[in-house]
Amino acid sequence: PGLDVLAKKAGLLYFGTAIDNVVLDNKQYISIAHNRSEFGQVTPSNGQKWMYIEPQRNVFNYTMGDEIVKPAIKAGQMRRCHTFLWHNQLPEWLTSQNWTKTELVGILENHIKNEARHYYDECYAWDVVNEAYNDDGTLRSDIWLDTIGKEYIELAFKFARKYTSPRTRLYYNDYNIETVNNKSTAVAALVKDFKKRHIPIDGVGLQAHFVTGSAPSYDQISAALKLFTKLGVETAITELDVRTQLPDSAEKMAQQATDYTNAVKACVDGDDCVGVTVWDFWDPVSWVPETFPGQGNADLLDANFTRKPAYYKVSDML
Ligand code: XIL
Repeated sequence: PGLDVLAKKAGLLYFGTAIDNVVLDNKQYISIAHNRSEFGQVTPSNGQKWMYIEPQRNVFNYTMGDEIVKPAIKAGQMRRCHTFLWHNQLPEWLTSQNWTKTELVGILENHIKNEARHYYDECYAWDVVNEAYNDDGTLRSDIWLDTIGKEYIELAFKFARKYTSPRTRLYYNDYNIETVNNKSTAVAALVKDFKKRHIPIDGVGLQAHFVTGSAPSYDQISAALKLFTKLGVETAITELDVRTQLPDSAEKMAQQATDYTNAVKACVDGDDCVGVTVWDFWDPVSWVPETFPGQGNADLLDANFTRKPAYYKVSDML
């Protein structure tokens, strides 16, 4: 049985993967990516980001998002949609001008309105806001904070609630919140404040981009998940990968397998952790080598599509 079949038996809603557009012509890749028993949920790695969706002001292009979402619907896979608001991968027209607060709020609402309507009811969840915090728990200085102020986050969630299907789960998504630390504590404070003031939020996504040998432990991840679920939101592991300093070795692959398994097990055992998404399953399309020079082999399958120890250890644990 595939990972999704096992994950569902273990009580999760799905075991999913991100898929990037660059690999759509690879038949072997696609047959695994849209194999519903392996992956019950799909997230576009890039296709729904602002620079591709709204490349010119008020000009929308859903080609790249649809290339991932439509086959997933056809294959009976759930979709996590990613992402309405981020500081990265914004179009030139948006970043090259000094907008007033009113203008930028209008641009944000128009973007969310159009993209939410296009994918209306097609997403189990939307990552509404991605990576708003610094590691020390302060808000990241970017076009959103600097132009709109800290209320940009709640505005994004209100717009998302207004234009997505009422069934769509609205998530805050970030990295380095997989342990109890300044950043995860700040995100928990945001959730608590939203709950108190009835700002819509349904979930927190823990990206879980880990490094072989220094990934958080099962107990650390479990404690971080609780930080959020005790406030009445669900959680998910949304971008799991475990990158290795190259060259790789049998010892490193064994350690990576343990690091992967701890994260998946923490979600399985945690209350209200709904599922795990790997940030791609095939080493050659991982974002890691480009972003972290010297590191790689972060995924479950190697270049030959051979299952690595991490695949087997996760599968055995499930
Ligand atoms: C990455 C993609 O995988 C890359 O292809 C792209 O060049 C940059 O973005 N956190 C996120 C994801 O929320 O959107 C990022 O995806 C990885 C880090």
